[in-house]
Amino acid sequence: MSDFLLDPDVVFLNHGSFGACPRLVFDQYQRWQRELERQPVRFLQRELPQLLADARRQLAEYLGAHSTEVVLVPNPTFAANTIARCLPLGAGDEVLISDQEYGACRFAFQYAAQKKGFRVVEQSIPLPVESDEAIVEAFWQGVTKDTRLIFISHITSTTALTLPVAKICQRARDAGILTMIDGAHAPGQIDVNLKEIGADFYTATCHKWMCAPKGSGFFFVREDRQHLVEPLVVGWGWGPEKTFHRENEFISNHEWLGTHDPAAYLAVPAAIAWHKEHFTSEARERSREFARLAVNLASQIDGIERVHPDAFFQQMGLIDITAKKVDDHVQFKSRLYDAYKIEVPVIRWRDRTLIRVSTHAYTTEDHIHTFAQALKETFGG
Ligand SMILES: Cc1ncc(COP(=O)(O)O)c(C=O)c1O
Repeated sequence: MSDFLLDPDVVFLNHGSFGACPRLVFDQYQRWQRELERQPVRFLQRELPQLLADARRQLAEYLGAHSTEVVLVPNPTFAANTIARCLPLGAGDEVLISDQEYGACRFAFQYAAQKKGFRVVEQSIPLPVESDEAIVEAFWQGVTKDTRLIFISHITSTTALTLPVAKICQRARDAGILTMIDGAHAPGQIDVNLKEIGADFYTATCHKWMCAPKGSGFFFVREDRQHLVEPLVVGWGWGPEKTFHRENEFISNHEWLGTHDPAAYLAVPAAIAWHKEHFTSEARERSREFARLAVNLASQIDGIERVHPDAFFQQMGLIDITAKKVDDHVQFKSRLYDAYKIEVPVIRWRDRTLIRVSTHAYTTEDHIHTFAQALKETFGG
């Protein structure tokens, strides 16, 4: 826990919402902020382009991509808006999403659909899932001759489900459909190789599972698709003067959004280094064991069910407490915090009430037992 800045009095089981930043990475972030303030003009105008290029290169390498295919952006909401608004979609076209997409990104597509006349089609992926093939088949039921783009999560937010995105992208490519993957929860939680996934567009946070500072994310666009992507924010990267022109049009158009604090972006290499050194594959596996333990202990209580087989979740375990008939899930979540100091999301999804338990380097076995005990005391059993 002391590697992180988290309040030691809180049983923090919600890494999934906003992540948490290790002290080492946060120190580096603040160092960049101080460096900027020492000489803002030198830093922002003369040094920043090279510093960003270095950060981008290290990030691209970590993701198995080329550095000219990746730009640093504040978050996936930004990238989803970019694609929803710029693709040439109109009446008669369809964007296919699953029924487990993150609300803000779904809104981005629904908003653009209202403006431009295309349809957003939501396809259910029934739970519990059985196999990657069954997931692809279920999702593919939503594809029609009018499907132009598939937008789907790599790991879903509300249901913490890892989806077979490489298989979906392959099938989409064969069918001539573009793909955008929302990987908000993927890098850091699982190994991500963008070349192998084969999506046209991929976005993720660095601030969640990569443990970088808040407001760092990336947007990947395959080289041969970059001509399709217009900037969401038009600024110096586009204009004739191109003051902040970098290696290529894609980067200059999408990365410089006007003056902002780039320290979170510049701390991404420190987050990657922290993972390599301090969150090894053994540590990650231990963290996954804790997520499985949380699911197993909780599901021993009468009326509480696990949702996914082990192979379909990583550091976020999901349990279904619908049978417990919790009337007000927000109040129930507050009660867990007030009575037990447990920070964990209680989610209403469709007609179900779910609890998503995130684990990370700072999670201890005691945290998991405290959580299980709180459920026992609340529900009996
Ligand atoms: C699946 C998914 N997509 C997108 C986002 C949006 O992230 P941000 O708010 O950083 O844009 C989240 C955030 O929790 C998410 O879980």
